This record gives sequence, structure tokens and C-alpha cells, in this order.
Amino acid sequence: MRLKLQDLTRQFGKKTAVDAVTVDIAPGQMVGVIGRSGAGKSTLLRMINRLADPTSGSIHFGDVEVSSLRGSALRHWRRDCAMIFQQFNLVPRLDVMTNVLLGRLDHRSTLASILNLFTREERLLAIAALERLGIEQTALQPAGTLSGGQQQRVAIARALMQRPKMLLADEPIASLDPLNAKIVMDSLRDINRNEGITVLTNLHTLDTARTYCERIIGMSQGRVVFDGTPDELTADAVHQIYGVGDASTFDEGMTSTSITVPQPTAEHTGIHPSSGVRSLATV
Ligand SMILES: Nc1ncnc2c1ncn2[C@@H]1O[C@H](COP(=O)(O)OP(=O)(O)OP(=O)(O)O)[C@@H](O)[C@H]1O
Ligand SMILES: [Mg+2]
Repeated sequence: MRLKLQDLTRQFGKKTAVDAVTVDIAPGQMVGVIGRSGAGKSTLLRMINRLADPTSGSIHFGDVEVSSLRGSALRHWRRDCAMIFQQFNLVPRLDVMTNVLLGRLDHRSTLASILNLFTREERLLAIAALERLGIEQTALQPAGTLSGGQQQRVAIARALMQRPKMLLADEPIASLDPLNAKIVMDSLRDINRNEGITVLTNLHTLDTARTYCERIIGMSQGRVVFDGTPDELTADAVHQIYGVGDASTFDEGMTSTSITVPQPTAEHTGIHPSSGVRSLATV
């Protein structure tokens, strides 16, 4: 089923965070959304998942009008489009296995949930999801004791437990070092290719979007200013998206944390102090 956003707009007071965005995403695409800080990337994703409501415009998934869903239909939609976040959003004191099983909550009766009765089938599914992400050995550890990269993989396993039709990711690697960033992006690509699940991910580094996404959407001040393949993303287009400097001198490296060449200083922060879009965008 296609995801269609039509003139999607969100205002916060006088600020237009997302401005008349019209986008049509075919099933199974891997799409990266890029843009400087404040461009509206998170707000766009949050509206699709209905964590934020549009001010105007519409969201359709197949024949369903997502923007008007309420009650159980809205819960089903949230299950269908699983979301992962920069800060993982796990329950740190609960073990990994339980965190992954929490992805099943919406599939279950309230009573079974209250009694914490996960079925044998659900447990097997959880183990399979952890194996899929290569972290089954951590199943009994409290989630908070894992490395950032491992925690993000737990979050992806939890998302898979929802049997989603779409995976939304809001800067999934922004808190990770280059090696873990690569593992997480490889996992998302693997899920996209093997399960055919649409992946829509905000990314703050251009090189990651180029490497992993077949389609890149560039946002600036709430608007889509680029929508095309990595090949079509020319220096001029990059300049339009990030809106700084001169197109001829714009250094793409400024938006890069390169996940192929680990830098020692990036080991713990995941973002080299002088090279992230964050620092670029705050100048
Ligand atoms: N809850 C809110 N209340 C008021 N303004 C908001 C709210 N959420 C977002 N905004 C504003 O909307 C604009 C877009 O914010 P958004 O978080 O979507 O940008 P972003 O592209 O995700 O940025 P970043 O790269 O920093 O995550 C910003 O100007 C932000 O200040
Ligand atoms: Mg954001």
C-alpha cells in the first residue's frame, strides 16, 4: 500500500514546522529525509505516526485516511507503522527479552497484558527477532546495561514484533559511534530488502542517506525542496537543502560523520565535534 501525504501542514503558533508537504511513497521503498536542524523532519514523521496531528492536509495509506483515525483504528495504525527513535526509548530496568515482547502489546488482550502472560509463540518470535539482529545473547540483561548500538537493535527487534508495514526512524544513528551506526543502518536495509517493509528515516548525515537510501527527500523550512535519487542530489540541490555557503564551495563532508571510516574522537559521541550537521545548522 502506498503512503500519500497531500499538502500536509503543521503549525505551532505562528511557526509552520511542516509546510504543504506532498509526497507519495511506494511500498518497499527505503527513503531518507534530510535537512538542517528545525527543517521539520521529526514533525513530519510524528504526523505520519499520529504522535502529532496535522493542522491541515491529509495522510493516506492505501484507502485508509490516517489523518482521521481514532480509537482502536488509530492503535492499529500505530502498530502498522512502528517507530524507532534516536534515544531508543527502551525500559532500561527491564530485560531485553521483555522490552522486545512489549512490541506485542497491541496484539493482545488487556487482561493478558496486565497479567504479563506472553505466549510461547510470542517468546519464540522475540528470540527470532533478537537473533535476526544478532543480539540474542543479551536477552536476559537489563536493557540499560547494553551499548547504544545494541539498544537500538533491541528497539528494532521490538518494532519487528509489531509486524509493521512501515518502519519510521527518527535519526536512529545520531547517538551512535560509526561502527554501531553502520550495524544499525545495515539492519534497517536488510529488513527493508528481505521483508519488503517500507523504511522512512530521518538522517542528519548526507553520506548515510546517499549510501543507504534509494530515494532522498530534502527539507528546508518545512518544505520539500528535493525529492529524488542519490545520483540526482547534486551540489546545487545540497546547497538548496542546507542553505549555507556557496554551492561551488560547499563541502559535503561538513554534513558527514562517515560511518565507513571510524574516527577515534567519534568513538563515544557518535558525532565528530566539528563535522555534524548539528554544528552546521546551529551556526
Ligand atoms: N512541540 C512543539 N512546539 C513548538 N514548536 C515546535 C514543536 N515541535 C517542533 N517545533 C518547531 O518546529 C520546527 C521543526 O521542528 P522539528 O523538530 O520537526 O525539526 P527537525 O528537522 O526534526 O530538527 P532536528 O534536526 O533538530 O531534529 C522547529 O522550528 C521547532 O522549533
Ligand atoms: Mg528531529
